[in-house]
Amino acid sequence: MKIMSPSVDQTSPDTLSADAIKQSLRTRWIGQPAIHSLDVVESTNAEANRLAQDGAPEGTLIVANAQTKGRGRLGRTWVSPPVSGLYLSIVLRPAHPPDWFPKLMLTAGVAVASAIQQIGTTPQLKWPNDILIGDRKVGGILTEAVFNKTRIDFAVLGIGINVNTKQDELPVSIRNLATSLRLGLGKRVSRIDLLQILLHQVEQWYESLDTGAFPTILETWSEFDTTLGRVVEVFLPERRVVGIAEALHQDGTLLVRDKRDCLHRIVAGDVVHCHLDP
Ligand code: BTN
Repeated sequence: MKIMSPSVDQTSPDTLSADAIKQSLRTRWIGQPAIHSLDVVESTNAEANRLAQDGAPEGTLIVANAQTKGRGRLGRTWVSPPVSGLYLSIVLRPAHPPDWFPKLMLTAGVAVASAIQQIGTTPQLKWPNDILIGDRKVGGILTEAVFNKTRIDFAVLGIGINVNTKQDELPVSIRNLATSLRLGLGKRVSRIDLLQILLHQVEQWYESLDTGAFPTILETWSEFDTTLGRVVEVFLPERRVVGIAEALHQDGTLLVRDKRDCLHRIVAGDVVHCHLDP
């Protein structure tokens, strides 16, 4: 695989204007119908949902320099300071039934991990799609969708990456749990180069998923995996499961075996890696 080094000099403005993004964008359809580049927005996912409801075509891209109400999974907040991070959402219109949707989450994780690998560091994936460097979170993915009875009406794929964030810019509450590409690589990274690599990867992996290559996606996911074989604590709406993360099911759900030898199939939930016996 070709390794690129999108480092920037310290004075580079590294702007994310639509024109700058379009230049040397290698995608066929992501970002091609429209790029909405915003300085500040509450949440690019909220914006993408609004545009999709109004009929925005597949591939519509929303990028922001900062978010004031960045959304994380499970109702959490995604801290989104200006300039140092990448915050984007893509409108998707998959022609698939609702039960296809979980596969998109894992596919997106593989795309983001592959993009980060191309800039020179190999991240790990924590199920379902947290992106880690050295056990600290560097990026997150929020997939949202509107369904009707038989198919997905539209989906929004939201990606947040801490790119050039310095240690003291991370909120104190997550300082020991989070990191950035800059901290991992020891040098600044061009957000625009990373964005172009990322959009290309999302397009490639999404097309693989669309043409039925989910087994290959699961194999690639496993190459980045840091969850399988570990003791995990899974917080579900009504209960908690503690056990060994044994395998991924062929549909992408996580199989956790508890100490009574009972196998739990986890569709969604908050997974914590433990350093304890199950
Ligand atoms: C997570 O909790 O790990 C998911 C975080 C996803 C954050 C991104 S930033 C761009 C997009 N817009 C949002 O409001 N959230 C996602």
